[in-house]
Amino acid sequence: MNSNYRTFFELVREPFSSDIELDNILLTPALKGVEERIHYAVRLGAIALVTGEIGSGKSTALRYVTGTLHPSQYRTLYITASTGPILELYRQLLDALAMDMGGLSRVVMLRRIRQEIVELVQGKKLKVILVIDEASLLRLEVFAELHILTQFEKDSKPLLPIVLAGQSNLIDSLMYRSSLPLASRIVGRSHLEGVTREQMEQYLTHHLTIAGVNNNIFDQTAITGIHQGSGGLFRKANHLARGAVIVAAKQKSMTVTADHVRMAATEIF
Ligand SMILES: Nc1ncnc2c1ncn2[C@@H]1O[C@H](COP(=O)(O)OP(=O)(O)O)[C@@H](O)[C@H]1O
Ligand SMILES: [Mg+2]
Repeated sequence: MNSNYRTFFELVREPFSSDIELDNILLTPALKGVEERIHYAVRLGAIALVTGEIGSGKSTALRYVTGTLHPSQYRTLYITASTGPILELYRQLLDALAMDMGGLSRVVMLRRIRQEIVELVQGKKLKVILVIDEASLLRLEVFAELHILTQFEKDSKPLLPIVLAGQSNLIDSLMYRSSLPLASRIVGRSHLEGVTREQMEQYLTHHLTIAGVNNNIFDQTAITGIHQGSGGLFRKANHLARGAVIVAAKQKSMTVTADHVRMAATEIF
């Protein structure tokens, strides 16, 4: 796809991009809700849960919350889960801890990870947070193991708060008997849904501003079209909005309308 549309609408950068910088993240009420619950769980050494449809803004919310924690006090271990066995998670954790993982047995890996976490928390006085995005992909047995991994001395305060994010079936996994010890540590749950039309309008305007456009090039029918076509979900809205901008530019129309959105919709899922 050529980028004539950027010249046509005088966009200073790719609009509706997925790699939005921390400073450009829109502070929606839902995102603030996620932030509050994560901070609460971190204070208690407990677990916060973030669920939502694909493209509802979960990963962005995690990035915002962890990105605004001061590195002199906090250390985030950020992992994107896979469907692999527990060893895979251990490897990712060692990597997040910047530790060598050459040829270690499972028992040794577990011990090293736990030692390092204790050192960071008690030695370096950091608050360590384990964030697992896409946790809905984790195998059932991994939830039970996670509990063991994050269980330290019986009496002291829990050392490792956890944030689990994923699609709604994450809840099903946590309701399994073997996951209950872990699930019993959950103190906050956020569910991200499609936003209202009004919020979608704000969202689109926000992204246009980031791309350097200060007049609203979408007319009201386009906004309604994007809201309906995306179900209020941001990622799909991005694709529809960008597609509609491209179609409008091709037709040399300075205003993006519902017709442009409809034509863009035929190209995406
Ligand atoms: N708060 C936000 N402010 C600005 N853009 C956002 C925000 N939340 C989501 N987005 C946009 O929507 C896209 C999809 O969000 P993402 O966090 O990846 O969803 P999920 O992790 O739920 O699948 C992001 O790439 C970003 O462009
Ligand atoms: Mg995500």
